[in-house]
Amino acid sequence: MSDFFKDNLLKNDLVAAPLAGYSHLPYRRILRKFFNGIIYSEMISVEGLARRNKETMEYLDRLESDTPLVFQIFGGKPENYAEAVRVAENECQVDAFDVNMGCPVKKVIKAGGGCSLLGDLGRIKAVVSNIRHATEKPFSIKIRIGLDEKNLVYKEILKIAENEGVNALVVHGRTKRDMFGGTVRIDILQEIADMANITVIGNGGVAGYNTYREMKATGVAGIMIGRSMMKAPWVFKAIEDKCSDDDLYNYLSPAEIGSLLIELWSYMLEHTKGRGMKETHYMHILKKFAVWFCKGFEMAADFRTNIYKTNSIDEVLSLIRQFYRC
Ligand SMILES: Cc1cc2nc3c(=O)[nH]c(=O)nc-3n(C[C@H](O)[C@H](O)[C@H](O)COP(=O)(O)O)c2cc1C
Repeated sequence: MSDFFKDNLLKNDLVAAPLAGYSHLPYRRILRKFFNGIIYSEMISVEGLARRNKETMEYLDRLESDTPLVFQIFGGKPENYAEAVRVAENECQVDAFDVNMGCPVKKVIKAGGGCSLLGDLGRIKAVVSNIRHATEKPFSIKIRIGLDEKNLVYKEILKIAENEGVNALVVHGRTKRDMFGGTVRIDILQEIADMANITVIGNGGVAGYNTYREMKATGVAGIMIGRSMMKAPWVFKAIEDKCSDDDLYNYLSPAEIGSLLIELWSYMLEHTKGRGMKETHYMHILKKFAVWFCKGFEMAADFRTNIYKTNSIDEVLSLIRQFYRC
């Protein structure tokens, strides 16, 4: 029998993390230029899916070629998960699901999702059991190692996952308290990889071949990349080419990076059409990418100031063309 996570990770052991606001269809089209591996979608509310909320349903937008793709879902109420996966499967092609149990952002915690689940193992069990009974699709859960150093829960969660038929465990090697700073606990990732009978994907702080190798040495089957993929979508190809962490932002020429941004805008425009979305929504995101992609470039500070000053897309594109010389 095929094993979605294991089989895909054997082909490519890198994984594109779920990033709310950024792992949307247009950006995934850019990622696919550098990457044929597993991409996680932005988190999608189970409550919204269960109610077939129009805006929530748009998070399921995908291209057939955008595969392997994992739809990440989040929410507080275990009873909504079963309906949410059914709705998603009726709506579109689904390769796999993931449950967000690691997001420390207030809005998500308040809704009872993300990291709040780490403090309630009974609810984790109910969530995964409901999903397992509702779908035959493979699914992972994405956790942090615990709430803080004194409340590490990864062993208990691994056990639940194995007993309840979860197919893969994604572990961000930090605690909730660490937020996005602090040391990634490589030692704990190794311990989990040694213990687990299901596929393990490690996550946290990978930004080039050096950090990739360090995480790979723990024995995890997959290495998930978050912020580096948001700031350098070419990171996947760069790691394949053994590009060091220090050289990540020199991997492409400025003109190549500029062309990527222009291409991204064309995908964003395409995606807004027919959906009643405002161009300005994506324009603000394009500006962020334009600023992130030029880390360390000369005159980057001026470019940043100028691009954030304007609200005209024509001017944004013209600034990109000038700065990146494309
Ligand atoms: C802007 C942003 C959005 C994120 N959105 C999500 C999300 O929707 N779901 C999730 O599980 N994690 C989310 N994360 C966490 C990342 O997936 C990842 O676990 C974290 O950034 C650590 O990996 P990194 O050190 O490679 O960035 C987000 C992180 C950032 C910075």
